[in-house]
Amino acid sequence: MNTTIPKLPFIIKPFLLSLLLSLTVLIFIALQTPHHRKTTPQQPDSTISSKSGGGLRIRPGYSSYDEYIQRQLNKTLNPKLRQIWTTRDWERKVRVFAQFFESLKRRNLLLNSSKALSIGARVGQEVAALKSIGVNDSIGIDLAPYPPLVVKGDFHAQLFMNGTFDFEFSNVFDHALYPWKFVGEIERTLKPGGVCAIHVALSRRADKYSANDLYSVGPLVELFKDSKLVEVRKVDGFGLDTEVVFRKNKRRNI
Ligand SMILES: C[S@@+](CC[C@H](N)C(=O)[O-])C[C@H]1O[C@@H](n2cnc3c(N)ncnc32)[C@H](O)[C@@H]1O
Repeated sequence: MNTTIPKLPFIIKPFLLSLLLSLTVLIFIALQTPHHRKTTPQQPDSTISSKSGGGLRIRPGYSSYDEYIQRQLNKTLNPKLRQIWTTRDWERKVRVFAQFFESLKRRNLLLNSSKALSIGARVGQEVAALKSIGVNDSIGIDLAPYPPLVVKGDFHAQLFMNGTFDFEFSNVFDHALYPWKFVGEIERTLKPGGVCAIHVALSRRADKYSANDLYSVGPLVELFKDSKLVEVRKVDGFGLDTEVVFRKNKRRNI
């Protein structure tokens, strides 16, 4: 049997060679080019599931970090709303926050001598509440300042030194685009043995300015890698229904 391969016409040979070369170059370029995401980088999967039930879902839709910040500020800096928050709403909110903090004091989780931080404090009703019950060394942070109660700061990158506070409170976990940074910064700025109380909504979805949805306390507990869960209890706090309290470990291991 004649097994000789038919000779290719002499024009095809260089053509095939150059095709092969071009393909190799294309594959090489494709492997080198970083694949940019359209959105700001998040954890590999934006749904963080929990061993202990429901997950934590990061809301999609922000094309950049600036867009997220701007959206938050649009509401926080609204002059009409600020007028209401600082007048009509003021006393009722300070009174309700003071009840939460008194309750934490009764459980020895907050002391008059505690250095306290309120995260996402807006116009500072919760800071005023802390001061009103005797926790005088209290301050709030928010994207927009409201002196003297609230200083400007992003909770994804707190402006405080490691181990600054004995107590941190927040009812804005749902506004965190990067919940793991939100919690990491709390654990960084808490003193060893310090306490963090967080109010979250589990039974209903939070507002349209939220950046994540939490379906159970499990994912929150998993984010607090250097703390122990102290307690979980039902509360009625301006649309938020659950208080979760953590104590940072005495010896740092993060
Ligand atoms: C629902 S409001 C809660 C305000 C206040 N804690 C209260 O209960 O009256 C959410 C607040 O989180 C603030 N916020 C959102 N993203 C933030 C960020 N990355 N850093 C600091 N504050 C932020 C907003 O500006 C807004 O004041």
